[in-house]
Amino acid sequence: MVRMGKKKLESKLIKVGSDPNIHHGSLNDPVYRASTIIFNNYESFLKAKKDKFNMPYYGRISGYNIKRLEKVISDLYQSEASVITSSGLSAISISLLSQLSKDDEILVTENCYEPVYNFCKKELIKFGIKTKFFKSNDFLNFKKNITKRTKLIYLESPGSLNYEIDQIEEIIHIAKEKKITTLFDNTWATFLGFNPLKWGVDIVIESCTKYFSGHSDTFCGAIACSRENYQKIKQTAVRIGDFVSSESCVLAIRGLRTLQSRLRIHQQNAFEIFLFLKKKKCVKKILYLPDEKNKYHTQWKKYFNSSNGLITFAISKTGKIENFLDNMHFFKIGFSWGGYESLILPLKQIKPGIKNYNNSLFWFRIHIGLESNKDLIEDLERGFNNYEAK
Ligand SMILES: Cc1ncc(COP(=O)(O)O)c(C=O)c1O
Repeated sequence: MVRMGKKKLESKLIKVGSDPNIHHGSLNDPVYRASTIIFNNYESFLKAKKDKFNMPYYGRISGYNIKRLEKVISDLYQSEASVITSSGLSAISISLLSQLSKDDEILVTENCYEPVYNFCKKELIKFGIKTKFFKSNDFLNFKKNITKRTKLIYLESPGSLNYEIDQIEEIIHIAKEKKITTLFDNTWATFLGFNPLKWGVDIVIESCTKYFSGHSDTFCGAIACSRENYQKIKQTAVRIGDFVSSESCVLAIRGLRTLQSRLRIHQQNAFEIFLFLKKKKCVKKILYLPDEKNKYHTQWKKYFNSSNGLITFAISKTGKIENFLDNMHFFKIGFSWGGYESLILPLKQIKPGIKNYNNSLFWFRIHIGLESNKDLIEDLERGFNNYEAK
């Protein structure tokens, strides 16, 4: 069993970030709705101004609930510091902007979440920052792309939609040698399944919109890093005017309480669905890391101690896609993942910017929720039957 501090993890997740003594016995933190924070006198005003990231100063910068969640994230990732942002994507863009300057180059895994690809290609480029994308399994080519200007390496493993795993250890090793900052999107695994800081990554982001909050009703991003990076990242977040509401922070902590139990069911259900998909003739490809035949299975086992509810698969293009998609009760079409419900997303591509697959297939990413896996299998069966019948 994983231990954090002296307590077992299961117990820690119930207690962390809760302090009934200071809230009239209330087990959960209240939502502090505060933009203005007032000071008793000039001296306390000056004191807060000097340490505005850490003391109550202005709601957007250091509101009570924001500081509470920052401390929780540091505790979970065992990082020196953490920054909370309005979304997972803002956690990424703010972290990137905080580290980069004109004429810098960055190396980004080609498995990244598509909006990251767009941010690099459409926004960073405006500031003279060049992005090169690298393949997860071509380390030689990765090395060749490092130049004197390379300032940051961006990793996301397992990768969005395709679940490929970067050569994490080797990349971190070379980054350290060349003093290049590393940033890791850890949304897939959450802090429970992997802690990139332990492997030497400098900055970790997690979209708490996903499993962490877990109920598809809020946005929030977390950045775990060193004290030095905290100063830079928080400064950028404040300058940009990024803001996460107190309510989102409270909802994230509420989600955290049940994260481990939810993830257990997402994993179990996903494995049952994988076994079902494997038997279907029209299913031509399945991307799923617990599949022993998956190319990245061994790497996954090396780094990660959990999986989740995500599976990507492809069916042969023999019918109308709507006959499959529109005949399911549980798998509804929708973005995001990590909530309690099952979702299905038709995919144009499984790597941003790369039209790399066979035209004779329809691709889907499914998120397996907390419903009964029997109902979910029945649901998919209904979709397949309709697809094949018409
Ligand atoms: C891997 C990954 N990182 C980051 C994000 C962005 O998170 P958010 O929706 O909170 O901006 C997502 C969203 O789908 C994601 O899948």
